[in-house]
Amino acid sequence: MAKDSSDSGHTLWGGRFEGGLSPEMEALNRSLDVDWRLWRHDVRGSRAWAAGLARAGILSADEVLRIDQGLIEVARRLEAMPGPRGLADEDIHTVVERLLTETIGSVGGKLHSGRSRNDQVATDFRLWGMAAVRLLQARLSGLVRAIAEKAREVEGVVMPGYTHLQQAQPVPASHWLLSRAWPLVRDLDHLGSVLKECDVLPLGSGAIAGCPFDIDREALAADLGFSRVSENSMDGVSDRDWAARLLFGGAMTGVHLSQFAEDLVLFSNSEFGFVRLGDGYTTGSSLMPQKRNPDVAELTRGKSGRLVGNLMAMMTVLKGLPTGYNRDLQEDKEAVFDSVDTLGGVLPAMTGAVQSMTLDRDRIAEALRAEMLATDLADYLVRRSVPFREAHHVAGALVRLAEGAGRQLSDLTLDEMNGVHPGFGDDVFEIFDPAASVESRDVRGATSREAVEAQLDALAKALAGTL
Ligand code: ARG
Repeated sequence: MAKDSSDSGHTLWGGRFEGGLSPEMEALNRSLDVDWRLWRHDVRGSRAWAAGLARAGILSADEVLRIDQGLIEVARRLEAMPGPRGLADEDIHTVVERLLTETIGSVGGKLHSGRSRNDQVATDFRLWGMAAVRLLQARLSGLVRAIAEKAREVEGVVMPGYTHLQQAQPVPASHWLLSRAWPLVRDLDHLGSVLKECDVLPLGSGAIAGCPFDIDREALAADLGFSRVSENSMDGVSDRDWAARLLFGGAMTGVHLSQFAEDLVLFSNSEFGFVRLGDGYTTGSSLMPQKRNPDVAELTRGKSGRLVGNLMAMMTVLKGLPTGYNRDLQEDKEAVFDSVDTLGGVLPAMTGAVQSMTLDRDRIAEALRAEMLATDLADYLVRRSVPFREAHHVAGALVRLAEGAGRQLSDLTLDEMNGVHPGFGDDVFEIFDPAASVESRDVRGATSREAVEAQLDALAKALAGTL
C-alpha cells in the first residue's frame, strides 16, 4: 500500500512521448504549488465522478467501492502532508490520481474514464470559488455590521463634511461612517451574483467534447452541491467569467476599502485629530518615540493595488484565447487565490480597526467653522422667498465681509447682514448651530437624526437581503 511517493515524478499523459520534459519546461508546466489547496475539492469531485461512472455502468459495484475507499485514504494522506514541497507531480490532479493508484493498484486508473483534467480543474476551481465567496460574504458583512455599530455609538457627534477635501457642510459622524458602509453593501450584492454564476457544474464536459458515457450530470451536480450544469462542453471547460467577476468584486472592494482607509489616515493625523485607532491597530516608529502610525489603514490602501492588478491579470489571460480549452487557463488560479487571501486578511483587520476606533469630540467640535453654514444662510433667505441664485450671492458676500474683517460668519451683526440684504431677521442667528443645520435636513438619505435612523434600518434590511 502507501509507499513513499515524495520523489517520484509523475504525469498523466506519458503514452505518446519518448523523452521526459526538459527541466525548464517541467518548472514552467508545474502548477502544484498553486493548486495544492484544491486537493479536498479534487478528492470530492473524484468521489462523485466514480459514483457517476458506477451509475453509468462503467465501474462495477466492487470497483467503485475500492475507488471510493481509496480516495478516502488519499484524503487522509494528503491531510497529513505539510504541502507540495518535495513532490515532483505536475499538479494536484496528478497527485490525487497517483496516490490513489499507489493505494488501491491499477483499478485506480479507471477513475479517469470519460473525464479530463480540463473539466476536473474547472470543477475543483468552482467548488473552491463558491466556498471562497461565502467566506468573503461573511467577512464583508462583518465589516458592514461593525461600521453600523460604530455609527450608532457616535450618534450626536457632528463633524465637518468635505467636498474637494475642503469643509463643505456639517454632517453627523454616523452619516460619514455609513457613507463608507453602503459601497460595501453593493459589493455584497455583487458577490451574490458571482456565487450564482459560479454555481454551475462543468464536470462531464470531457476535454472539450463532452462525456461518451451515460453520465447523469444532474445527479453529479446535486452530489457536489451545484444548482445547475453547464450547457456547452466547450464553454464548460473554458469559462472563467465567474472568476473574472469575483476579481472585479475584489478590486472594487479593494478600492472602497482604500478610500475608507484614506479617511482614517487623514482623520487620525495630528492636524485633523478626529479619529483615534486602537493600540492594536497602530504601530510605533523605531526612531521617533511619539509616532502612532495608522498602518492598518495604510496596508489596506496598499493592498488595493494587488486587488486591481489581479483583475487586470485575469482579463489579459482571457483576452486572447481561441476556441476550446487552452493551457493559458492554468494562470487563472493564482490571481483569484491571491485576491481572496488578501481580502480574507484585510477585512477582519479593518473590522477590528473600526471597532477599536474612537472619535475625539473636542477636536471635531473645534474644527467646525461657521463658514460651513453659508449654505444654510442662503437657505434661510430662500425660505423667505428670495430666489436661490440671489441668496447664494448674498451669503457669499457675507462670507467675504466676515473674512475681510477677520471674523467668523456667525460674528456678523444683524445690521451688517441687512446692509447686504434686507431679508434677515433676529432669528437668523439660530442657523449658526451645526447640530441644527444637520437636523434641518430631514429628507430620506439626509442628515437629521431621524433620517440617519431610517438609514440604519435600511442598511440592516439590505444586509439581510444580500446574504
Ligand atoms: N494544472 C492544470 C491547471 O491548473 C490542469 C489542467 C491541465 N490540462 C491540460 N490539458 N494540460 O489548469
